[in-house]
Amino acid sequence: MYDFPADLTDVASAVETALAQQLDNARLSGPGPAPGRLVDSMRHGSLEGGKRLRPLLVRQAAAIFNIPASQALTAGLAVEMVHCYSLVHDDLPAMDDDDIRRGRPTVHKAYDEATAILAGDALLTHAFGLLADPTCHPDPAVRIALVRELAAGSGAGGMVGGQMRDIAGEQAGLAADEISTMQAMKTGALIRASVRIGAILGGADARALSVLTVYAEAAGRAFQLADDILDVTATAETMGKATGKDATHGKQTLVAQLGLEGARARLNQTVSEALSALRTFGPKADGLRATVRYFASREH
Ligand code: IPE
Ligand code: IPE
Ligand code: MG
Ligand code: MG
Ligand code: MG
Repeated sequence: MYDFPADLTDVASAVETALAQQLDNARLSGPGPAPGRLVDSMRHGSLEGGKRLRPLLVRQAAAIFNIPASQALTAGLAVEMVHCYSLVHDDLPAMDDDDIRRGRPTVHKAYDEATAILAGDALLTHAFGLLADPTCHPDPAVRIALVRELAAGSGAGGMVGGQMRDIAGEQAGLAADEISTMQAMKTGALIRASVRIGAILGGADARALSVLTVYAEAAGRAFQLADDILDVTATAETMGKATGKDATHGKQTLVAQLGLEGARARLNQTVSEALSALRTFGPKADGLRATVRYFASREH
């Protein structure tokens, strides 16, 4: 029987160990030596405290195709590095201006703004280096597909574009469908890429990939809905980041649009959509099933 808490603990420890190994002076050095302060700030922005849900999705999607967790780790690390970079930049004064992340000072607080910008840049760049590395997958064609997938999920038509829409919406407001588009991009796109990367590692055919994409898009919507609900209902202490900020900053969220109860109803409905996308898969998709349920029930 699939054991979700065990999988979550296991991925967190595998990711922590592997990230600590990757974010090391010798490994990050190229034509020149990586500056110590930059490496330290990258470690600060990546190590300790993350739930590691994106590497979890990579391994769970890969598991459907019998790929062992160890073979899905490098690709999962790449997604996690892009995610950590997105958080480091999201917290900058020019964006959400947050002082606490994962229960610790944000990178620009612990270091300075320029270092935080560069730490994010270097995490992003290293992520693509990891996907191009043969340890990620022996077949270069698969590695190229992974690079394209992560690029699409993180760029102007994905996470970065969603962040742009989010920031623009604070000033100008967003219509209901624009909120959904913004969320599908700023958060959904990396979650979608995580699932698809797992499927690509597993050699999924077009049909399986498209069904898993339907799951992933619903899971992404559920994840950001829960984040917005928790911003209203949870304490900063449990979240490890400031809460109650979306409303005061005029953030466009589905909670603002639908109210708390409306948002909760939408969340339950979205989880059902994700689960029904998986109906053609047997018990091998139990990991993905458990994760989308967790997205809705998580307390931090
Ligand atoms: C937080 O993501 C940012 C959003 C996309 C809403 P997570 O809740 O996955 O953050 P960590 O990695 O566990 O800190
Ligand atoms: C963050 O959304 C999305 C990305 C970092 C791409 P939020 O701004 O809501 O995330 P938190 O609440 O700061 O974690
Ligand atoms: Mg933000
Ligand atoms: Mg934020
Ligand atoms: Mg938030």
